[in-house]
Amino acid sequence: MPQSAALAPGLTTGHAPFVEEARDRGELYIQQVYDLYSADNHEAWRQLYRRIQPRWERYANPHFLNGVEALHLREDRVPQLAEVNRRLQPLTGFQAKAVSGYVPSFLFFDCLRRREFPTTITIRPVDRMDYLPEPDIFHDVAGHVPMHTEPAFADTLARFGDCAHTAVEMMSGIRDEQERTRRVVSIIKAMSRFFWFTVEFGLMRGPKGICAYGSGLLSSYGELEHAIESPEVQRYPVQMEWLINQGMEIDHYQPLLFVVESFDHLFDLVDRLERWMREGKLNNVAPGAPEINESDLRSFLDAGLN
Ligand SMILES: [Fe+2]
Repeated sequence: MPQSAALAPGLTTGHAPFVEEARDRGELYIQQVYDLYSADNHEAWRQLYRRIQPRWERYANPHFLNGVEALHLREDRVPQLAEVNRRLQPLTGFQAKAVSGYVPSFLFFDCLRRREFPTTITIRPVDRMDYLPEPDIFHDVAGHVPMHTEPAFADTLARFGDCAHTAVEMMSGIRDEQERTRRVVSIIKAMSRFFWFTVEFGLMRGPKGICAYGSGLLSSYGELEHAIESPEVQRYPVQMEWLINQGMEIDHYQPLLFVVESFDHLFDLVDRLERWMREGKLNNVAPGAPEINESDLRSFLDAGLN
């Protein structure tokens, strides 16, 4: 039986026994046991939400603002995923699905293909509002999920999942194990960079100038303004050949951002990513971040065995 909110350790990033035990048992998909959230957890959500709202009005793309409204996100409490999904699913078929931690990349992309978005349920400690190296529910639900109400964007995410399947199909014909691994690493790098510079940190030309659609920006009070206003940020029209070869920088505000024209434009880019993959153009992308960890690599190689 869940403990009362006052006594429970809560679902705090870095201290959430319920989630850590699930992870130890090897359970990736979990339930959001709502009673486990502590008063501090709800307070963290409230502060994060209140603080960023005016910046959304100023810097977010209009589809995101429509999404926030359509989902009826509340500012005073951590959202219940079941409630969010009840409003989200009829719009685009997408659902937020609670997970216990990091989802290896093939499984992540495959979830997108099924229109399921792996969602962290923990929230950052109330005394660490600004920097968190890992995602939390504020990033995943307030930053990502409103975008999933937009049909063209939702189609783009699902298309990403197709690309991961194409990668597996491409490598199944390669006999040399070392060469297969080398190519898969390069393809995962290219896909991760593409995802990073678009879905996480993308900018878009909007009716009132450049606005943000990337969730890393939309969930960061400080970086959202910095990305649009700072003269130090380089903002360029998106170029595939640059983006897939550009190393990611993960522990500070992004110095380089790419601008798309529309979500249809973004969808066409994912199409092109898949075409380039088939043509072998992703087999030798530039070295540099991200390093591909064993679980990401294994997830692709294992998918090829099934
Ligand atoms: Fe994210």
